[in-house]
Amino acid sequence: MYAVSEHRTGSDLEALIEFAQPVSEDVVLDVATGAGHVALALAPLVPSVVAVDLATGMVDKARERGAEAGVSNLECRVADAERLPFEDESFDLVTCRIAPHHFVDIDAAIAEVARVLRPGGRYVVVDSMSPDDPGLDAFLDAVERRRDPTHVRSYRRDEWMQLIGGAGLVVERVGSVRKSRSFEFWLERGGAQGADAEELREMFRSASAAAKEYFEIVTDGDVIESFSDDQIVIRATSPRP
Ligand SMILES: C[S@@+](CC[C@H](N)C(=O)[O-])C[C@H]1O[C@@H](n2cnc3c(N)ncnc32)[C@H](O)[C@@H]1O
Repeated sequence: MYAVSEHRTGSDLEALIEFAQPVSEDVVLDVATGAGHVALALAPLVPSVVAVDLATGMVDKARERGAEAGVSNLECRVADAERLPFEDESFDLVTCRIAPHHFVDIDAAIAEVARVLRPGGRYVVVDSMSPDDPGLDAFLDAVERRRDPTHVRSYRRDEWMQLIGGAGLVVERVGSVRKSRSFEFWLERGGAQGADAEELREMFRSASAAAKEYFEIVTDGDVIESFSDDQIVIRATSPRP
């Protein structure tokens, strides 16, 4: 059984580490590592971390950051979350932060986690979460897609439960972290410019009252200053035979 409503503030990376409860025997895989934030946070706590990402540039970046930090137990390699190049049951802990919303085949990505986890191993995932309300869900989906064409879907809590349960993993703990975003920084990070950026500003200005309230959209006249959304944090385990 899991806690259904564990709302938190603060860093989602800290929440991930707390949910993961790394121990000194853990062989770790960080999927879609990006610049390696999770991998580098875990490396001092465990014997070894493998960090994979689809983008060669990100893998190089994670490797470079590891070398700069003097980390010697981190292996970085290019790999697709949907086709992991690892043997069955080879990891004690698999992490994935702020990436599943990019995966084209989320079922395949979670099935791969279930395959590479040892019995009793843990999967800890953090990702942007859509609200339960269909209108608010549609708003978040629309603005995220417009901002970043590689956005596929931010799943609702119930969708996550189905995805993880469907792969045969057992959800143990669920929480969420509220994240406040500086609007222009959020636009810039997604790569939206020119007409796309202006359209996004207008989508926020003309958002429904419910969306303005839920996403805590802060404006100063026509300027969108910030908004907030939620990151889901889930810990699931691979059942023992
Ligand atoms: C927002 S970044 C993730 C950041 C990182 N996990 C962190 O905690 O900072 C999303 C990453 O997912 C990677 N990605 C997207 N689709 C992928 C896939 N199918 N397999 C592996 N990596 C993927 C992207 O290349 C990108 O580096």
